Formats: sequence, C-alpha cells, structure tokens
Amino acid sequence: MRSQEIGPNLYWVGYVDWNVRNFHGYQTHRGSTYNAYLIVDEKVALIDAVKGHYTKHLLKNIAERIDPTRIDYVISNHTEPDHSGGIAEVLKHAPKAQVIASDKGRSGLEKYYGSNWNCRVVKTGDTLSLGRETLQFIMTPMLHWPDSMFTYLPGRKLLFSMDAFGQHFATSARYDTEVDFDVLMAEAKTYYANIIMHLGSVVSRTLKQAETLAIETVCPSHGVIWTRHIPDIIAAYKDWAVCKPRNKVLVVYDSMWQSTEIMAGAIADGAAEENVEVELLRLDVNGLTALATETLDAGAVALGSPTLNNQMMPNVAAFLTYIKGLKPKNKLSLAFGSYGWSGGAVELAAEELKQAGFEPAMENIACQYRPDTAIFDQCRQAGKILAQKVKQFVQTTERTTP
Ligand code: FEO
Repeated sequence: MRSQEIGPNLYWVGYVDWNVRNFHGYQTHRGSTYNAYLIVDEKVALIDAVKGHYTKHLLKNIAERIDPTRIDYVISNHTEPDHSGGIAEVLKHAPKAQVIASDKGRSGLEKYYGSNWNCRVVKTGDTLSLGRETLQFIMTPMLHWPDSMFTYLPGRKLLFSMDAFGQHFATSARYDTEVDFDVLMAEAKTYYANIIMHLGSVVSRTLKQAETLAIETVCPSHGVIWTRHIPDIIAAYKDWAVCKPRNKVLVVYDSMWQSTEIMAGAIADGAAEENVEVELLRLDVNGLTALATETLDAGAVALGSPTLNNQMMPNVAAFLTYIKGLKPKNKLSLAFGSYGWSGGAVELAAEELKQAGFEPAMENIACQYRPDTAIFDQCRQAGKILAQKVKQFVQTTERTTP
C-alpha cells in the first residue's frame, strides 16, 4: 500500500503484509500490518520501522512524502524485529538521524544489530521538540517487551501505542471506522489473547497511565488506527486484563478412536443444558491461536486427552505448553479422557492445568476403552455441574475483580 496522510504533516508509511499466515506461531489468518508513521515538522521523525524484509516498501513510502535524508529522528518504540528490522537500512538513507529509544531499547537494538548508532535514551516524561510539535515518551516495560514505550503527541491528542491495541489485520483501510466493527474487535481479541494475555497486570497499570492523557487517536503498530472506537477497545482491554470470565464452557480435546470425543460431546451437551455458551473444539482441526482466543473469556475449560504411550496426546501437551505461557486468570477446569490399559494422560493434563493457573472444578473423569452408559451419563452430568459452577464463578469474579 502507498503512504497515506492521516493528519496534517503526519503520514502512514508502513507495510501491509497480506499473506503472512504464521507470525512466530500465531496463525494470522487475516495477515498483518507493520505500521510506521512519519511526522514532518521543522524536524522529521519516523515512528518505528517495519520487518527488515519489507524496508524497501517503507523507504518508498517515505520518499513519496520527503527525501529520506531529511529524517532527524527514528523513534524505536519497541525492539522486536517486526518494528526495528528496517531501522539499519533506514539509517543508511538518513545519515543524520538519531535513534530514540528506552534504555532497554538501546541495549536491545545493539544486541540485535550490533549497532553503533547515534542513540538517545529517553524515559517517562522526557520530551522531544520537532518544532511546532513536541513528542512525549511514556515507558511501558513488558508491554510487550522490557524495552517498550509509547510516544504521545499532546498537540494532537494522539498516542503511538506500539503493540498495545494492535491487531494482526491486513486491510487497505487505515481507520477503525472503515472496517467491520465485529471483525476488528475479533482480531483485537485474538491479538490480545495470543500476544498480551500473560501481561494483564502490566496492561491494567498502563491503562491507568493512559487515562491521565487526553487521547482522540491511537496509532498502534499493527492493524487499523483507533478513533471512534477508542472507548470500546479500552473497555475490552480492561476486561481482558483480568481474563474476565463469561458464562462460557470451552471443551477442548483430541481423540484417537472417538472415545474421548464421545466424552467431550457429552460434557458439552450437559453444559448446554444450563444455557451457557458452549464451544466444542477439537485440537487437531483448531489451531492454538483460536483456542487461546476462546480461552481468554471462558469461565471454564474442559480438556480431554486419550492416553498415548502413557502420555497425553501431543496436541494436548502443545496446547498446555502454549496456554501455560499465556497465564490465563479466572478459569475453572475439568480434565477427562480415555485410556487403553495403564492410563496417565488425564492426571497429567489435570496437573498441567493446575500449574497453568486453572482452578479444578471437580474430579477428573477417566474411561477405559469405550464410554459406557454410566460414563456417558457421568460426563453429561459433569458438563451440567461445570456450567452451574461457571455461572456462580462469573458472579463471584464480577464482585471481586476491580
Ligand atoms: Fe509487533 Fe512485540 O512486536
């Protein structure tokens, strides 16, 4: 996409990555964008770059607006290479440019690129005059890396929020008003669940900082710019920061010979009798990205695995490894599954769920070979009880979570 004016002397100059489908394991079914912004004042500032591979597109977009040699500052809000990968090449075309970064950003950039760049370290409250406009810096460590920071343009009430409020969403639109709202919020939720979920306390703290700023525009590093829907995304982030549970039971499973699948179906049917939202998702056809997203606002996850060679099915273990890193809060759990002779998977899954922070809602359910009527009824009843507990849990969480 070509550069686009998004305000007086302010341009989007990034890259739309229409066809990326795997972003370090995140299944980006709508592609992504690497947003970079150019402010042309008495001084010229570039806010972030793009993935290294796409720097030629960034430079072309910059050149549509100014001669790149005019760039005075490259603001590196975040060291991750999807934003810093292009900086070295930009500096070759902007020899007088100074890189502005946090202290951790400076050291991270040095480690990544072995740079001896002209780099200025900033901290919260520091400002940088561009002439008519002044940039303010706000450190947001661990959102998403230790180096992360926001850059704020008070004169325009505009926040460059880096990964925060981002979406992996390739589109020719630049604004939240130009895309389908439900699609936008779904992509923002997927992004939050898979990139930010484990940083909930940092998010809560950062939202409090952001509330002290007048903000009319939020320019993230991925996806569309927030204008009309800023209150919606802020409200969603407040809920997501505590993984606020809904009346929703997520049944996740893998199966070898359909026994665990039959148990999963019975649990889902039992839960549905309680009029909660139920999702029945098989691991080998639903990717981890979608499962993490559905976990974010679930009240409970029922996880099923057959025993394979005394272990969980590999897909179940992968889900648990992934979800443990994302540290969901405020979730109940139930482990279930079938086995042939020795068993073991259900106990392993239950233990891993506990380590991931889930609260066991009831005893595990294990079944040898094929679920008989008694096991089928037990699973159905367990689904019903799980849903009842979710409804109570949601009410309690509502009362006790700020
Ligand atoms: Fe878009 Fe944490 O990088």
